[in-house]
Amino acid sequence: MTLGLIGCGKMASALVRGVLKAGVCQPKAVWASDCFFELAQKLASDTGLQAVRSNLEVAEASQTLLLCVKPQDSLSALVELRAALEGKLVVSIAAGVSLAALEGAAGPGVRIIRVMPNTPALVHKGASAYALGTHATPADAEVVLALFGAVGFAAQVKEGLLDAVTGLSGSGPAYAFLMIEALADAGVLMGLSRDLSVKLAAQTLAGAAEMVLQTGEHPGKLRDAVASPGGTTIAGIEALEASGVRAGLISAVRKAAERSREMGKE
Ligand SMILES: NC(=O)c1ccc[n+]([C@@H]2O[C@H](COP(=O)([O-])OP(=O)(O)OC[C@H]3O[C@@H](n4cnc5c(N)ncnc54)[C@H](OP(=O)(O)O)[C@@H]3O)[C@@H](O)[C@H]2O)c1
Repeated sequence: MTLGLIGCGKMASALVRGVLKAGVCQPKAVWASDCFFELAQKLASDTGLQAVRSNLEVAEASQTLLLCVKPQDSLSALVELRAALEGKLVVSIAAGVSLAALEGAAGPGVRIIRVMPNTPALVHKGASAYALGTHATPADAEVVLALFGAVGFAAQVKEGLLDAVTGLSGSGPAYAFLMIEALADAGVLMGLSRDLSVKLAAQTLAGAAEMVLQTGEHPGKLRDAVASPGGTTIAGIEALEASGVRAGLISAVRKAAERSREMGKE
């Protein structure tokens, strides 16, 4: 597969490092450009890919183009590349930019897939969902699964569900950071050092998440298994339920999804 990166910022850099590490592409089959050429050069010297000065050169050299610029720059970048997009697959990670808008900018018949990744992709623990544009094929979906599967989990959804994905996994790392911070504050309150508290809190969330993924059990069943009658955990759960944590999390995802929907219309 030949791959082109338009924009070499945080997301592009994390994605291409994961993709190369997983052997999905060879470095000599990857081209990259960025407004700030030194960013593309840095990525090239770190990974062996080819840094070039123009987006057009990237588009001409690649079968699959990863559009990794900020949402406000994504449509103008595609319009400039129109002449080179025939027969290519364009994969956009721009938050809130619809398939219809991307297809309008890219021109008739261009195969486009829209992806909503999240920041843990930076440490190869991402959660992404993707939706196929009008002309994208099942083979294109396989390409996206290979690319985003290289930096975590990826699943196909209908475009209408990408706002829900944004509210859950897109914004979700922030909810987890808040939980880690609060748990660590509690550890400090109870006499533990800040450093140890943060490590215990983060490792506990990571470990619990890994148990859900590895066992495939319902999280409620795993929770019941650690809450012995009259014990410490059920006392903690009583406090969580009394403070409305469950309703708060549900409401956070709903609000974030609604905000994503609003932003898509702006
Ligand atoms: N970071 C995340 O957690 C996350 C999560 C989900 C989705 N996303 C999406 O991922 C995309 C990239 O985010 P990011 O955090 O990686 O952004 P970033 O670090 O700012 O990277 C974007 C890069 O693209 C460059 N650029 C802008 N316009 C360009 C153009 N026309 N041609 C070539 N390069 C251009 C930018 O240069 P300048 O700085 O000079 O403009 C910048 O170096 C965004 O659309 C965002 O919505 C990000």
